[in-house]
Amino acid sequence: MSASIIDGKAFAAGVREKVAGHVARLREEHGIKPGLAVVLVGEDPASEVYVRNKGKQTLEAGMNSYEHKLPDTTPEADLLALVARLNADPAVHGILVQLPLPDHIDAEKVINAIEPAKDVDGFHILNVGLLGTGQKAMVPCTPLGSLMMLRDQLGSLSGLNAVVVGRSNIVGKPMAQLLLRESCTVTIAHSRTKDLADVCRGADILVAAVGRARMIPGDWIKPGATVIDVGINRIPAPEKGEGKTRLVGDVDFESAVEVAGAITPVPGGVGPMTIACLLANTVTACCRAHNLPEPEGLTA
Ligand code: GUN
Repeated sequence: MSASIIDGKAFAAGVREKVAGHVARLREEHGIKPGLAVVLVGEDPASEVYVRNKGKQTLEAGMNSYEHKLPDTTPEADLLALVARLNADPAVHGILVQLPLPDHIDAEKVINAIEPAKDVDGFHILNVGLLGTGQKAMVPCTPLGSLMMLRDQLGSLSGLNAVVVGRSNIVGKPMAQLLLRESCTVTIAHSRTKDLADVCRGADILVAAVGRARMIPGDWIKPGATVIDVGINRIPAPEKGEGKTRLVGDVDFESAVEVAGAITPVPGGVGPMTIACLLANTVTACCRAHNLPEPEGLTA
């Protein structure tokens, strides 16, 4: 048996299309144009690529994109002052400060300075608390995208055993909260978990977010399980030529695809969903700011 492969690229295109539809309606019916501000400090090449893609896709969805690029020597106080300006700007509905930040800046302090209603990353302590208590929050993009794909694949998630491997604030913990809200029985596993293989074998839903290349082999997967692979790991690929690399997930795809019921590939699975959900969160934040109904199908 071979799993069905969940096409994250197509799914993300569908989400972006829905976002663009809502944006067009907001303009036509209310004269409102959602705006997303992205702040990049320093010149990390991977971050520059992300930020460029975010800006491009924001414009393609019909929204305003505001990019703020600051040198890596920017004092923390200057970054906090920019965040305060964006908080006060009514044209800005979403604010994202790209991580990681340089060492001399306290990332937690900066994230918690963002107006929670504009925190489209869902990283602010208030949004973390709202999500954890089942209240209306801004939800982190990667877990939100993963949830959308799980709902599409499975319909109701109620009563299923979900195992989240990884306990990060960005993915593992909010993913577990979302699955709990869907009435799954949730286990958060991590590098210190005893008998990790057996824990994974009990999962109807397995979400891998540890950041270790191909750590989870097919024989850790329950036959028919739905596998969401959040990992993006670059490994050497000598078969492509000297010095070449390729991307792999946290799951060993070749063996897992023979056992799982459905699985996201890497690349082309969860990855494209993150920016699509960032756009979705920006529209949601804009609707909430204007007391308008939230976009259907784009929220948790
Ligand atoms: N760096 C890598 N991924 C992310 C993300 O989702 N949000 C932010 N702010 N920075 C990141």
